[in-house]
Amino acid sequence: MTKRTPIIAGNWKMHNTLAESAALIEALKTAGNKNNAEVIVAPSFTSLAKVAELAKGSHIQVACQDVHWEDKGAFTSAVSPVQAKDAGATHAILGHSERRSVFGDTDEILNKKVAAALRHGLTIIFCVGETLQEREANETIAVINGQLENGLKGYSAEDLKGMVIAYEPVWAIGTGKTATPEQAQEVHAAIRQFLADKYGKEYADATRILYGGSVKDSNVDEIMAQPDVDGALVGGQALLADKFARIINFN
Ligand code: PGA
Repeated sequence: MTKRTPIIAGNWKMHNTLAESAALIEALKTAGNKNNAEVIVAPSFTSLAKVAELAKGSHIQVACQDVHWEDKGAFTSAVSPVQAKDAGATHAILGHSERRSVFGDTDEILNKKVAAALRHGLTIIFCVGETLQEREANETIAVINGQLENGLKGYSAEDLKGMVIAYEPVWAIGTGKTATPEQAQEVHAAIRQFLADKYGKEYADATRILYGGSVKDSNVDEIMAQPDVDGALVGGQALLADKFARIINFN
């Protein structure tokens, strides 16, 4: 089996002033990284350039939480991939469930954002996940396959090389309700199977699939122990330096 380098990513969402962001990144720089994970933080756009500047030369990389699909133009309040990259982002989170449900990012819109990120060499962290209603109706895998199929439409394994997938069950985000390690493993294995069918086994074996949804210092070890879980995308606890440090240094 391919050895996959773990990724621990923190999504800061709409939190943190400049001063708070600076303090958090400074604390994380000295928090250790015993698993040699790829550590990524995703500050809000106002803090992106500052955090990227402070992270320079460290082991921590910086993501943006979204991008617009155009490079520039009359799109009040939006941020383009060119601007995100210019500010220091190397990665772009796309399709987070809050973007999908609160801001109306559809699969079609996400497909255009995928194009935008690829155009500018931003490594995509593509989020998928089912609602509680969909899980209870036994639609989990169908929903996720649809999100992957439509969001990534038109791109080859070569185009999508290095892309990261994040499985985030909507019912587990910010709710304190975590998927059990078995539930996470089941969906991660299905996602890897989708990738194998679509892009080939080599691509699937190399792709990191992160779990997200109430990952905590207290549950990260058992989640990371699953064979198809290659990392975590963390919200709430990514804002707390000591908690996130423990997550980075999972056992
Ligand atoms: P949470 O958020 O860890 O606060 O549940 C996860 C996410 O939205 O990425």
